[in-house]
Amino acid sequence: MAKIAIVYHSGYGHTKKQALAVAEGARAGGAEVDVLEADALGDPEGDDWAPLDAADAIIFGSPTYMGSVSGPFESFVDKTSKKWFTQAWHGKIGAGFTCSSSFHGSKQVTLQRLCELAMQHGMIWVGPGLMPTEPTHPDTDKDGNNRLGFYLGAAAQAGQNASPEEAPTNGDLANAHALGKRVAEVAARMG
Ligand SMILES: Cc1cc2nc3c(=O)[nH]c(=O)nc-3n(C[C@H](O)[C@H](O)[C@H](O)COP(=O)(O)O)c2cc1C
Repeated sequence: MAKIAIVYHSGYGHTKKQALAVAEGARAGGAEVDVLEADALGDPEGDDWAPLDAADAIIFGSPTYMGSVSGPFESFVDKTSKKWFTQAWHGKIGAGFTCSSSFHGSKQVTLQRLCELAMQHGMIWVGPGLMPTEPTHPDTDKDGNNRLGFYLGAAAQAGQNASPEEAPTNGDLANAHALGKRVAEVAARMG
């Protein structure tokens, strides 16, 4: 059984919802899943990092704040440098997801940041592999497949005034689920 660790930050609960959908998808793909909050992790040598070290795949998630990953997530990124020195995560699968309030909102930058993190660690990046819904209007076609048209990772949108109960949309959560499932399937294939 493939082991997948999901490590994310969420200030207000929207990215958390996305993380839980990714986890559900990974379990549906047959993986054993650990979900970790990036800002709750202590020293990289501590036991709370063990699920990351043991995982076949790590899926990174952060809201987009001011055009990139959030501060707490970036603090976690800095801590991973201890793993970088020994290339402890080399060869693991990596993937990412983000949520922001605008349809685009610089989510691409966040996904690129997450991918760059994985690349520095020598990981193998897997995207969701979802075609966008065509034709689509992101505001009205809320359940559409990859309605926001991102390919590097799973993207979700949650309007400024929408609570985590209202957003992300079912479609965005389905995309998160699809990313988790795909990563689990790729991890199983790689043995
Ligand atoms: C400090 C801060 C900066 C933000 N910057 C952006 C941004 O650059 N682009 C965007 O579309 N939304 C931005 N937002 C909105 C959040 O991305 C959005 O509310 C998201 O759903 C929050 O996720 P969370 O509930 O997991 O924290 C920002 C929110 C905060 C609090």
